Amino acid sequence: MSEDVLKKEKKPIIFSAIQPSGTITLGNYLGALKNWVSLQDSHDCIFAIADLHAITVRQEPAQFRRNIIEAYALLLACGIDTKKTLFFIQSHVHTHAELAWILNCYTQFGELSRMTQFKDKSQRHTDNVNVGLFAYPCLMAADILLYQADLVPVGADQKQHLELARDVAERFNGVYGNTFKLPDGYYPPVGARIMSLQDPTRKMSKSDENANSWVAVLDKPEDIMRKFKRAVTDSEAVVKYGENKLGVNNLMGIYSSVTGKSGEEIEREFEGKGYGDFKTAVAEAVIEELRPIRERYERFIADKAYLEEQYTKCAEIALKISARTLDKAMKKIGFIKGKH
Ligand code: TRP
Repeated sequence: MSEDVLKKEKKPIIFSAIQPSGTITLGNYLGALKNWVSLQDSHDCIFAIADLHAITVRQEPAQFRRNIIEAYALLLACGIDTKKTLFFIQSHVHTHAELAWILNCYTQFGELSRMTQFKDKSQRHTDNVNVGLFAYPCLMAADILLYQADLVPVGADQKQHLELARDVAERFNGVYGNTFKLPDGYYPPVGARIMSLQDPTRKMSKSDENANSWVAVLDKPEDIMRKFKRAVTDSEAVVKYGENKLGVNNLMGIYSSVTGKSGEEIEREFEGKGYGDFKTAVAEAVIEELRPIRERYERFIADKAYLEEQYTKCAEIALKISARTLDKAMKKIGFIKGKH
């Protein structure tokens, strides 16, 4: 995407980012990434690998480096297309850290103390309650506000952070006049919230101790099949949505999200059939959906020069676009423009 595209076409601007935290699960893919891919034609999309966010927890350097490049390659493999979309690595665009510092100074201690994710994480990792973890929502606000984003696709867990970004932007605009666009959330259609295969009351998460509860986008077909075959269902043996059928609802949601079939179509397809056939069908659909992604990923990850070319080109454009917002904000505050 060139810089002018953003100016001329006036499609709504979307910003989102994902942390390079190792494994990307089927839940991340169906709940977020697949949606990002489909937004690329109708919107001007800007996506980032949020590596600055990731150091709020300690990272082992060699592993961290691998996680970043693997996340970049995997998103390309999922269909993020750098011809249409700016897709870069957050730390390559220095305006993010700079605006984050400024926003820190327009955000109240009390506001950040109310963030449920901070409360959660600081209770779980009492040995490293660092200032970055506390100020993390300001960095996220900077990511979004730098690009004057209209819409931000986020999961429920990030909704409070997005609201904080709006509040801070509104406050800044109130003091200095219009500087930042107030972003709205973009919430994926229902059914895209993928639950654990072993405990469907919980979200699918790679930090789950039971490895059978989640599927990774890069899992081998036989592992995917095994995990779905062991998925928790119920004793009713009828494939339909129901209040007390969380396991089946989840499998139907996954099947629907992969095949595009509606709930009714799925119910009809499996009428009179047992859960065994159903689980096999879901696993096969997921395997076929993920197969080309895995193949593309293998090609991308083996071609570091290509990856470097993509993220460098995108970071250069992102820097130009974001610097306009940063300069504007700094000028309003009263900074003297330096030569950088
Ligand atoms: N904090 C988000 C997460 O952990 C990732 C993220 C960073 C993000 N910056 C963002 C999401 C900006 C949306 C917009 O999932």
